[in-house]
Parts: sequence; structure tokens; C-alpha cells
Amino acid sequence: MTTDAPKIIELPKFLDDRGNLSFIEAGRHIPFKIERAYWIYDVPGGEKRGGHAYSHLQEFIVALSGSLDVVLHDGEKETRYHLNRSYYGLYIPKMFWRELDNFSTNSLALILADEKYKEDEYIRDFDTFLKTRDGA
Ligand code: TYD
Repeated sequence: MTTDAPKIIELPKFLDDRGNLSFIEAGRHIPFKIERAYWIYDVPGGEKRGGHAYSHLQEFIVALSGSLDVVLHDGEKETRYHLNRSYYGLYIPKMFWRELDNFSTNSLALILADEKYKEDEYIRDFDTFLKTRDGA
């Protein structure tokens, strides 16, 4: 299961006086099966994470707390997405250069992926990314 375009996906939300609740079901709200979850937190002001692409891996990023920006490059143009609510997230297909920046204080980003961690999935050089994307 895959789609080619990044997209903001709204998640279910149950608003409740006792506190709100949202959830994600793999294959229903996001277009892949979840193999791994990781999170980024305690990011010092002005720091960036990412700065790479994945050759096959797909991800979904939610700002569970605070906010951050995800900057995606498709080989031709760059698009910046601001994530600041826990009831929506950004789906990122394979082969997008991605950088995470503009983290707020106490930002907590949850990232769901469709593969386990494998260093050989990473394309860490931007020129290699552009060449690979051109040939794709
Ligand atoms: P990395 O994805 O390179 O972070 P960033 O792109 O933000 O710089 O991850 C940093 C290190 O963390 C990586 O070298 C290995 C480890 N890591 C895991 O062991 N498992 C994981 O699921 C992730 C995401 C990272």
C-alpha cells in the first residue's frame, strides 16, 4: 500500500470534558502497516533533525505536543508543513528529502514507519537523492 504524494491526514478526535482522545489505525487512517514508532523530544532551540530521504520507507509524523515544521523536497521544489495539533499529521511517501525544524519548546513528534530501522534505507547525500529521484 502506498501513495505518491505527501498529505496532511486528519485523525479521528473525540472531544471530551475529561480530555480529548485521538487514534490511528494502520491501513485505515494512514496508508501503511506500522512496523516501527519513534519519537523526537528535548530538541534544543534552533536545532534541526533529519536531512535525508528513504529509498522505500514511508512515514507519518504527528506533533503530539508543541509544534514543528517538516520541510519536504521532491527533487524540484520544497514544501514546508507546520504541525501543531495532535489530531492530524503528515504522510510522507518514499523518496522525499525531509528535514524537521522550528521545534517549539517541549515539542514531541511521533513518527510511524512501515519498516524497521535499517541504515541502508537512508539517502544522506542530497545530490545522490536528486540523481536517484531523476532515475526513478
Ligand atoms: P536518524 O534517523 O539518523 O536521525 P536524524 O535523521 O534526525 O538525524 O537517527 C539517529 C540515530 O538513531 C541513527 O544513527 C540510529 C538511531 N536510530 C535507531 O536505532 N532506530 C530508529 O528507529 C531511528 C529512527 C534511529
